[in-house]
Amino acid sequence: MSERSIEVVDDAGVVRLTITRPKALNALNSAVLTELEGVLTELEARDDLRAVLITGAGDKSFVAGADIAEMREKTPEEARAFASQALRTIKRLETLPVPVVALVNGFCLGGGCELALACDWAVASDNAVFGQPEVLLGVIPGFGGTQRLPRRVGPAMALDLCTTGRKIDAQEALRIGLVNRVMPQAELETYADELAQQLGGNGPQAVRAAKQAIHDGMDQDLDSALALETALFAFCFAGDEQSEGMSAFVEKRKPHF
Ligand code: CAA
Repeated sequence: MSERSIEVVDDAGVVRLTITRPKALNALNSAVLTELEGVLTELEARDDLRAVLITGAGDKSFVAGADIAEMREKTPEEARAFASQALRTIKRLETLPVPVVALVNGFCLGGGCELALACDWAVASDNAVFGQPEVLLGVIPGFGGTQRLPRRVGPAMALDLCTTGRKIDAQEALRIGLVNRVMPQAELETYADELAQQLGGNGPQAVRAAKQAIHDGMDQDLDSALALETALFAFCFAGDEQSEGMSAFVEKRKPHF
């Protein structure tokens, strides 16, 4: 049996995915993408899923991009098929109904940055390096970077990064809004544990509703998006979570969701 490249650890519905391809700094080839898509298919079917945290194995790299050696000989048709596979997989990660957080622990380049951009937010270790260096290889970002990067950091900064191919450090990534937080690498694991507890402890239906309201609302005009929020707010009162959460507050105890 071939070695697995996606390590999956499940802690009461908070799932940690680790991309593990040490020989190539966790670069994404078709086999890794296929495996990731298989894992996502299983996660999509789970009602008990609460959050997904995704990282790269080791202390040097999150994901150093799409696999350059594999792409090198591709024809335009093969390149299109490869990009389509990646776009489909990354979209499925993005549209999981629970928060998806990238823990960026080193190189986050090209397809790696594009993977992180599809996560709801990203946290970086202080040694992380970000960039869309595709123009240095004679191509452009093909896993969604030209579209998700401007939506995250604005078109001017996206054009800067995509046309110069320059790499930026974690502090600059924080300044431009590419990541939410930066911390010493040694603290990333503790942060992941805290986040898992936090996200795992909140009302799961409410957490899903918050993600849905923000994701779906971003694609709508403000009035429609506010109507969506109201519908989801009201929906929260239909289950057990709201009465448990509010009763726990009034009774000065912790809620059990
Ligand atoms: N694809 C395939 N292999 C890769 C890789 C990638 N994206 N990135 C690194 N590797 C491999 C290297 O070839 C090397 O393999 P060998 O030991 O067999 O030679 C191994 O990983 C370790 O890499 P380095 O020796 O280069 O490590 P370093 O510390 O000197 O440099 C680095 C690290 C700066 C990240 C450098 O490896 C690098 O520049 N990698 C390429 C980054 C890149 O250009 N990413 C974008 C790819 S294109 C893309 O992603 C297109 C898209 O949008 C779809």
